[in-house]
Amino acid sequence: MGKIIIQNIKKIISTERVASQTPLCGEQMASLECIEGGYIILNDDIITEFGEMNSLNSCKVEGARVIEASGKMVMPTFCDSHTHLVYAGSREMEYRDKIKGLTYQEIAARGGGILNSAKLLHTTSEDELYRQSLDRAYEILRFGTGAVEIKSGYGLTAQDEIKMLRVAKRIGDSTPLTVRTTFLGAHAVPERFSGRREEYVDEIIHTMIPMIAAEDLADYIDVFTERGFFTVEDTDRIFNAGMKYGMRAKIHANQMSNSGAVRVASKYNAISADHLEFTGPEEFRSLKESGTIATLLPGSTFFLEMEYAPARAMLSYGLPVALATNYNPGSSPAGDMKFIMAIAALKMKMTPEEVINASTINGAFAMGIGESHGSIAVGKKANLIITRAIPSYEYIPYALTAPIVDTLILDGRELDINAIR
Ligand code: NIG
Repeated sequence: MGKIIIQNIKKIISTERVASQTPLCGEQMASLECIEGGYIILNDDIITEFGEMNSLNSCKVEGARVIEASGKMVMPTFCDSHTHLVYAGSREMEYRDKIKGLTYQEIAARGGGILNSAKLLHTTSEDELYRQSLDRAYEILRFGTGAVEIKSGYGLTAQDEIKMLRVAKRIGDSTPLTVRTTFLGAHAVPERFSGRREEYVDEIIHTMIPMIAAEDLADYIDVFTERGFFTVEDTDRIFNAGMKYGMRAKIHANQMSNSGAVRVASKYNAISADHLEFTGPEEFRSLKESGTIATLLPGSTFFLEMEYAPARAMLSYGLPVALATNYNPGSSPAGDMKFIMAIAALKMKMTPEEVINASTINGAFAMGIGESHGSIAVGKKANLIITRAIPSYEYIPYALTAPIVDTLILDGRELDINAIR
């Protein structure tokens, strides 16, 4: 590691004079602090200085490794605050059904969907699950993601949920990704509890949560609160139990209907409420009161061909909005934050500044790491993307599939993205 200077940067994107303690809300998201023609100094894994090239004191460069960035831009790595990237196999056979016109709920009701992934995960060893998930972790690194939240939820037994969370932790330990983990035992009711959902909720509360807490496997607790999955009452009980073990709430809220999920999220001061396709002013008020981040997942809306979340109305209301990939085998088989930004811009009418803020600083706050990640500020983690030579930051969401990452710096170490497996 040691000292690195990145110099002659065409533009430094998303700088903060003083690292913020809270996410950006509403109209604050419309601007992006940038420096034209700049430098950044890193000491080990921390950003220690940045500014305009003409203010650089040459003594500062002595002994430092120099990275030339002319024509390139530097921005914080993406913070993807909602993924299910630990899973076994894939579900392209359901994709056929989907193309033929079956809905997500219809596929789930036939025993497909989450239960299908759970069956496969059960017969997959922990090492094999790790190997498959590691490939996805490397994939998102190449896209420029530096921090990721990973949920369980395809186990649906104590043993298999633990298997998933151990794999998620192992990804954090064995790659340069910053990982936060979420226990999502309430993702679907497993077959063995068919017609006895409340008893499965009891098992989550009395067996799974204590076992997961004993191994310190989860930072957050999540529920898929939706018709056909879990009710608001189930969610309330699960959050209440998780809270006692220090797991803060996150929630899958209002993805397919207005389920009342936002109220329970606010009641438990959820760090984020995710999806929110079916929301209006009443939910906006609840989210605002509890300071809960609205995390939008347009990748799954695109894939399921459903309704997009009302991002513009949320921003006008003054809410903090984050974007995440929701990388999973059923509704969003895509881990590319840049693709998500493009959909958010085109389909939810978010501006380039808003999509960048939503994918960096607000994503960081939505996974509890906003004070150390998500922007370029003195004292923050040296987690940076040095872009290829690109004309502007608008180009990032505009150039749908063009790769933008030239060099990744994570924890102050330079990674050759072509060498990332
Ligand atoms: O957020 N809705 C619940 N969970 C995922 C889908 C998971 C799956 O279908 O495997 C989502 O869309």
